[in-house]
Amino acid sequence: MIYVLNGPNLNRLGTREPDVYGSATYKDLADMCRTVADDLGVRVEVRQTNAEHEMLGWLHDAADEGADVVLNPGAWTHYNIAVRDACAMLRGKLIEVHISNVHSREEFRHRSVISAVATGVIAGLGFDGYRLALEHIAR
Ligand code: DQA
Repeated sequence: MIYVLNGPNLNRLGTREPDVYGSATYKDLADMCRTVADDLGVRVEVRQTNAEHEMLGWLHDAADEGADVVLNPGAWTHYNIAVRDACAMLRGKLIEVHISNVHSREEFRHRSVISAVATGVIAGLGFDGYRLALEHIAR
């Protein structure tokens, strides 16, 4: 099982700052991830939450299972040490994905507290980042 986990405000894709994140919705993103996983012959679980405790629980479960994770931590990326500590427990791969190029945006988005414990990071490629992360894990 590969977990595709999305943090706060990503349920608002489609209406949220479309100039930054595009006009496709969270459902479009989740559907695309499932289609990509089907094509790759892997099982995927796509989730989104605005609640930190829920994300921590999902990461703990992934750690217990030794599962690989594709994670868009949203704004938690930039300051959430509890999410980072949960990521550090993972035994499978962790690919950190950002839809936008965080490095071309505000200064506070340039720093990620997650990246140091991630296998790799993809930013700025839109939904393609999720596809590439799944392809990498499946390979
Ligand atoms: C984001 C970038 C973050 O800075 C922001 O807080 C998000 C989305 C992205 O996918 O580009 O919520 O992770």
